[in-house]
Amino acid sequence: MSVNLKTPEEIDGMRVAGRLASELLDFLTPHVQPGVTTGTINELAHEHMLGVQQTKPATLNYAPPGHSPYPASLCTSVNHVVCHGIPGDRKLKDGDIVNIDVTVIKDGFHGDTSRMFQVGKSSIQARRLSETTYEAMWRGIRAVRPGAHLGDIGAAIQRFAESHGFSVVREFCGHGIGRAFHEEPQVLHYGRTGAGLKLQPGMIFTIEPMINAGRAAIRCLADGWTIVTADHSLSAQWEHTVLVTPDGFEVLTVSAGTPSPPVAAEQ
Ligand code: MF3
Ligand code: CO
Ligand code: CO
Repeated sequence: MSVNLKTPEEIDGMRVAGRLASELLDFLTPHVQPGVTTGTINELAHEHMLGVQQTKPATLNYAPPGHSPYPASLCTSVNHVVCHGIPGDRKLKDGDIVNIDVTVIKDGFHGDTSRMFQVGKSSIQARRLSETTYEAMWRGIRAVRPGAHLGDIGAAIQRFAESHGFSVVREFCGHGIGRAFHEEPQVLHYGRTGAGLKLQPGMIFTIEPMINAGRAAIRCLADGWTIVTADHSLSAQWEHTVLVTPDGFEVLTVSAGTPSPPVAAEQ
């Protein structure tokens, strides 16, 4: 496994791309309302990227081996959709939860982040799932420091999610990111403390746990992209792009609207 360490210049470029990705979510936030279609959110984002940010949507026509080109400028994953939901004519309705996942390219560098949104008034269970997933992501982020292992991140996420009775999706993981959208290493959201690659300053990767209210098993729909929970239970996801610094971590996908980290609780 070859993980490239970013140079100071590359880190500066990744800070800019990360901020722009987060600002794109800030821009979209007031539009996430009952009655708005996910296709409209996609169009607003596309225009904002090209017209205002001068960024490009990394997902549009993205075609990893074995996949048809992804047809949109972001992913909208509603309720039991785990990830990679394709925006379309579906109107968001009161009580839905939706993950919006954006990846922008600026000057060749990728910024990748996602947040959960509650449409109107969602159920207590849905809010609890989203909040637990958010804290699980942050438990993973707080495990990042030089000398720690990738397994420490996965173990922290898994322990927290499962202690709340939820399950961790196994088939998708965080990833190195830079001039490429998906690079080494793979960042699993489950695992064992002390296992896997040792972290070094200059590594940049995403942490993006997908947590299901029911069982961990998933299915892919006939469109070849949309991933849903096999048992149709709700699923939540949050994502940040993170740099390993000499004394810990720096979250790169930050902007004025980034939700604050959860208060550090006892393990
Ligand atoms: N943004 C997703 C990630 O976090 C990847 C989406 S790929 C797409 O890695 F093709 F589905 F858009
Ligand atoms: Co990602
Ligand atoms: Co993403």
